[in-house]
Amino acid sequence: MFQIKKICCIGAGYVGGPTCSVIASKCPDIKVTVVDVNEARINAWNSDTLPIYEPGLKEIVLSCRGKNLFFSTDIDTAIKEADLVFISVNTPTKTYGMGKGRAADLKFIEACARRIVEVSEGYKIVTEKSTVPVRAAESIRRIFDANTKPKLNLQVLSNPEFLAEGTAVKDLQEPDRVLIGGDEGPEGQRAIAALREVYEHWVDKSRIITTNTWSSELSKLAANAFLAQRISSINSISALCEATGADVEEVAKAIGMDQRIGSKFLKASVGFGGSCFQKDVLNLVYLCEALNLTEVAKYWQQVIDMNEYQRRRFACRIIDCLFNTVSGKKIALLGFAFKKDTGDTRESSSIYISKYLMDEGAELHIYDPKVSKEQIMLDLSQPSITERPEKVSELVTVSSDPYEACTNAHALVICTEWDMFKKLDYLKIYQKMQKPAFIFDGRRVLDDLHMQLQNIGFQIETIGKKVTTRIPFTPFTPTTFLLKDPLLRKPKAQKKD
Ligand code: UDX
Ligand code: ADP
Repeated sequence: MFQIKKICCIGAGYVGGPTCSVIASKCPDIKVTVVDVNEARINAWNSDTLPIYEPGLKEIVLSCRGKNLFFSTDIDTAIKEADLVFISVNTPTKTYGMGKGRAADLKFIEACARRIVEVSEGYKIVTEKSTVPVRAAESIRRIFDANTKPKLNLQVLSNPEFLAEGTAVKDLQEPDRVLIGGDEGPEGQRAIAALREVYEHWVDKSRIITTNTWSSELSKLAANAFLAQRISSINSISALCEATGADVEEVAKAIGMDQRIGSKFLKASVGFGGSCFQKDVLNLVYLCEALNLTEVAKYWQQVIDMNEYQRRRFACRIIDCLFNTVSGKKIALLGFAFKKDTGDTRESSSIYISKYLMDEGAELHIYDPKVSKEQIMLDLSQPSITERPEKVSELVTVSSDPYEACTNAHALVICTEWDMFKKLDYLKIYQKMQKPAFIFDGRRVLDDLHMQLQNIGFQIETIGKKVTTRIPFTPFTPTTFLLKDPLLRKPKAQKKD
């Protein structure tokens, strides 16, 4: 059996970096080199401040780096000496030409394939790890076949990565499954067996499944589409809850206890973000359209439409509650990452909520514990978000302190479910805010504190629940707060609007 001793991973991003760090830590007998064209990114991987934040990742990198884990910009050497090359480069949605806004842009994958065939000699397994449209492996194979040379034997596999950001290390160490797709012929099966052996260092055999290449590619798109669909489904129910008086958390619990439905991924929110869901669903829609499966395309498009609706709906609710105008009003936006425990902002709902509020002239004060000021300003200055980048510097301030962000604000808007937002001193925040002081909880992180927050004097608006009990506004004094604290005194029955 062919044994893999050296791995090269092209692309030191959110997928390539953590995946290869975990492989290196689990396979001390394999030399793993992660390469990238981006020198700054490689330098960061070689420094004390890694380019991405993932719980547990730094420890793993520090334990393997310089032993069997290397980060380098010398792409050709790493490809040449590798037995296995992972392609983990980005595959963004196309921003030009045919398929604009929907199809995946495969130019980075193609550049890798061309480089690999140019510098390789002998036998090598080339594995696509990036999420790609169905039949991308076929394109890679065609580039190899058209440029082949004597004694060169490049086998192409598909091995999609299912890790989620924020839990990447755990997902890689204890994957639900590892999926390897390859050719059904003997050469393909030999390559599959070699890659399988790498994973068998730490993953139980029963969790490693093999399929043909196309099934593997489609499974990745389908898995993300199903997950995104669940969020859009529960978000659609959240709109219904807000209109009726049901509570989406209660509904999610009740339906999630049915084992056929299951309880995960039923958290209503300001809408899903991240680099994968939207891109992959759009990819699926594009594929269906190209194959003349119009009804199937429409079905999946609705998952995206519902997500956009949810974001718009939340922004409208903020504007509505703030007496129909946010122009010139200071709004504190807490959380900019697309989910907690990551510094990644790609497709974050915060970007869109910010856009809608900026369009209405709101002054935003943004705080996120892991996202830099530069990143926030860059995201909000994109042409798809604002036509006038100078408007962003006029309207947006990035704070390094949540209390500072809330000072004089009319409203506090939670867009990311960071745990720290549950532990803020809301009494201190209330004292600093304009009155009436609103909290818009786009993530249901403050559910357990509603009573206390209302007793402090906040008006709370939350996803998937009818507008909360409103307490008539009374200026805060420590005594009224203490008297109203439910821990000290049973609150009176409250009047609904
Ligand atoms: C996703 C897939 O989970 C992963 O398998 C795939 O490899 C890449 O895409 P990721 O985007 O990192 O991972 O994060 P995920 O945890 O799936 O969350 C995506 C978005 O959905 C986030 O914005 C999150 O806040 C949101 N979400 C998730 C909800 O709004 N409600 C939920 O119940 C779950
Ligand atoms: P993902 O989330 O899929 O990992 P990222 O954008 O985080 O995506 O990472 C992809 C990485 O791939 C980037 O750091 C980018 O510089 C790198 N990359 C893209 N094209 C090439 C290429 N042809 N050769 C080497 N690295 C590349």
